[in-house]
Amino acid sequence: MKASEIRQKYLEFFKEKTHTIIPSAPLLPENDPTVLFTTAGMHPLVPYLLGEPHPEGKRLASVQKCIRTGDIDEVGDNTHLTFFEMLGNWSLGDYFKKEAIEWSFEFLTSKKWLNIPINKLAVSVFRGDDDAPMDDEAVNYWKSHGISERRIAYLPKSENWWGPAGQTGPCGPDTEIFYWVGEGTPVECSNPGSDKDNWIEIWNNVFMQYNKNEDEEFEPLEQTNVDTGMGLERVTAVLQGKKTIYNTELFQPIIEKISNLTTIPYSDNQASYRIITDHLRAATFMAGDGVKPSNLDQGYVMRRLIRRAIRHGRTLGIEQNFTHIIAKKVIHLMSDIYHELKHEEEILKTFELEEEQFSKTVNHGLKELEKLLNGFQIAFEKTGKKITEISGKQAFKLYDTYGFPIEMTIEEAKKHDLTVDKESFDKAFEEHQKKSRAGAEEKFKGGLQDNSEATTKLHTATHLLHAALHKVLGDHAKQRGSNITAERLRFDFTHPDKMTTEQLEQVEKFVNDAIETDVPINYENMTVNEAKKAGAIGLFEGKYGEKVKVYTIKGFSKEICGGPHAKRTGELGKFKIKKEQSSSAGVRRIKAILI
Ligand code: ALA
Repeated sequence: MKASEIRQKYLEFFKEKTHTIIPSAPLLPENDPTVLFTTAGMHPLVPYLLGEPHPEGKRLASVQKCIRTGDIDEVGDNTHLTFFEMLGNWSLGDYFKKEAIEWSFEFLTSKKWLNIPINKLAVSVFRGDDDAPMDDEAVNYWKSHGISERRIAYLPKSENWWGPAGQTGPCGPDTEIFYWVGEGTPVECSNPGSDKDNWIEIWNNVFMQYNKNEDEEFEPLEQTNVDTGMGLERVTAVLQGKKTIYNTELFQPIIEKISNLTTIPYSDNQASYRIITDHLRAATFMAGDGVKPSNLDQGYVMRRLIRRAIRHGRTLGIEQNFTHIIAKKVIHLMSDIYHELKHEEEILKTFELEEEQFSKTVNHGLKELEKLLNGFQIAFEKTGKKITEISGKQAFKLYDTYGFPIEMTIEEAKKHDLTVDKESFDKAFEEHQKKSRAGAEEKFKGGLQDNSEATTKLHTATHLLHAALHKVLGDHAKQRGSNITAERLRFDFTHPDKMTTEQLEQVEKFVNDAIETDVPINYENMTVNEAKKAGAIGLFEGKYGEKVKVYTIKGFSKEICGGPHAKRTGELGKFKIKKEQSSSAGVRRIKAILI
């Protein structure tokens, strides 16, 4: 069965079970600065899993584009991917374990649908711990469908529990469905707990019945939900009896395209072929959703994927610029389903530019490396002692200052009979990662640098600025981050274009009018739903189910926020925008002061 048929059947099946089919959300989570990419079908549904009514009802199904970079180093093996499609169905406080299990079973085994023989299936369930009991409800439903006790694995939280996506939020036990990929029929007592190699997970049914709160307690949710996810690539492979996803029609045409560019056959270096295939497929979808390679956030991930693919291309002896050729193939394979890929020209341009830029970086890095090696030679001539190793510090400088990848440093070193102190490079790299992660967390916290009077006033000005941007540019101008010191405020927001002088003047005027009106600033505690109803703006994500503080500047702004703020707007003085610039793709940045 072809992947396209599986997609179609899945949606058709759940439509028959009165689900509404919803489109894939973009890869960039909307209005959620806490994660870079959509990692599962449930991700765009978090508000609804926490009780917000979904406009399409209580039963939903979709095929969602997902990016997960956690396993990037595993890409190249038979099953790992950074980009994949997830088939999912949801109950938002509607059906629960009984129907979810019944329908998964029916879809997989019924002749009309996937027609998988029952002896090729096994399941795992949550075995219980101090936080929550064993899921024997799920066990009983499986048994009622003829799954034998021996095909049920009872596994701990590390295996059979999903969520929350962030620190807090909806979560619960899950039951996973496995397909036998071993030879012949599975032996009697084999299940995914005892025989991991021969069973691969194809579908996960999560029963969201808890909310993990800030005290790390699991409190029962009022609304219980079902959240399921089935990896399309995997299920396609197993149904076609293929050992690897890369042998399916989702990937073969891409692999073929690569093989036209090199004399090294797929069988000689599968890993490089697969890495190029996966990474460029992911990057093409990112480009389709408007991401541009950069040194920040999503753009940084995209840049890494493209550059890693280029490096593997060089390993295969591909010297020409080739990423746009592969991207074009991906577009042709997928754009009928994902229309955002239809901006072919723009997407291909992104790849061409990035590859050119990378060539420059590599050439620059090579020059620096040459200087370093010359230095080694001079030292040798002076002292008679041969240097045989590039230090971690030197390798890190090449990486950090010139963007020269460590793998290339190692390759070049080899050519000159040198080694690289990879261990100390890794240490320096980790340090750097830690710092940039801390930086990112800082950024996402938004946050004030201190609680001084000047900072507090600028914080209040930020609320007025946010409201002004909504008014002048529209509701899409949402906060993406902020940073406030005693001297100035910095505010990032979503907006595609450079703001005009007129718009900037209007924004300044809105803020200064609010200041002149000298309005008091008050706050109230309310639930997120109440806050939304009251028309408050702000970052809702990650705040579900909690009470939040809503600050009101009557007539001007209403926003979710922790404070602190000035008492009255009259205290602020005069608001002045110093700069409006691009921050990253689709995100603008304003720097402003109070004088
Ligand atoms: N959200 C669940 C998963 O991704 C279904 O496995």
